[in-house]
Amino acid sequence: MNRNANELAYSAQQIDVDDDLDDIVAGLERDQKMISPKYFYDERGSQLFDEITRLPEYYPTATEIGIMEDNIADIADLIGERASLIEFGAGSSIKIRILLEHLKSLAAYVPVDISDEHLLAAADGLRKDYPHIEILPIAADFTQPFDLPTPSVMPLRNIVYFPGSTIGNFTPEGALELLKVMYHEAKEDGALLIGVDLQKDVRILERAYNDSKGVTAAFNLNMLRHLNRDYGADFDLDAFRHRAVYNSVDGRIELYLDSTAEQTVHMAGSTIRIAEGEAILTEYSHKYTLQSFAELAAKAGFEVRQVWMDAERLFSVQYCVRV
Ligand code: TRP
Repeated sequence: MNRNANELAYSAQQIDVDDDLDDIVAGLERDQKMISPKYFYDERGSQLFDEITRLPEYYPTATEIGIMEDNIADIADLIGERASLIEFGAGSSIKIRILLEHLKSLAAYVPVDISDEHLLAAADGLRKDYPHIEILPIAADFTQPFDLPTPSVMPLRNIVYFPGSTIGNFTPEGALELLKVMYHEAKEDGALLIGVDLQKDVRILERAYNDSKGVTAAFNLNMLRHLNRDYGADFDLDAFRHRAVYNSVDGRIELYLDSTAEQTVHMAGSTIRIAEGEAILTEYSHKYTLQSFAELAAKAGFEVRQVWMDAERLFSVQYCVRV
């Protein structure tokens, strides 16, 4: 099997446990050991992730919400009337509520997520608070083109919404492929509203992913606990340490689990040897400049029409139109 670093990118794929096992073992047999970030999200992982988003050091969430709140009138003007809002991801966050509250006469809100459980729970919560908005959840792998539902009101344009700088968790190649899917789903006259985290002082970046309460460390290590419980692995959680470093060549934060001892891990009939000091890569979080993101978006057919940022230029929300 020919695997490359690209596959580390968050890929919303529904695969069964056997495929998962092959996937995990193959990642651990690579020269640079890696485990896909999709294994972060068991129940405890999702809770820890929520906790990360509330940490004072983790600036992206609060900054993005602030940008949305400060500029919602402009955002609503650009999106215009009777749009269909298509969110890549299930939309359980406060950000989607800001949009649902302020957009003019939305035709529909279409959350797209691989996990139908998560999707339906989030949709139900929103339906209660926004009974006048047609909410049409779609369970699909959004890294591949998927069919859109037909709202009862004919939309004037499709707006793809992708907050959280999740685009940064894809490699540039994976991000380009995903932007092309977004271009396709936006259709003619459509646009993309996307949160993009920006390059900045390394100390701010590294602090965000090495918080003082150790929540990000717990989140990273929880992946091994998840593999032990649900995939029959026997990782010794005490023999790994969380590390997040900024790679300035590739402009990204890299999350690793460093092995503090020479050890052997068993999983699915395979024995994996891990040297002392050897690292398992678990996540990338790419940081863009306004220019590097505009170039990437252009390759997918988008032109950046408007960029909103906080005063310190930590984070950006960008409105990109199909050209
Ligand atoms: N996309 C966000 C980021 O890269 C959130 C995120 C995804 C994250 N995976 C993570 C945050 C792992 C911390 C650790 O920051």
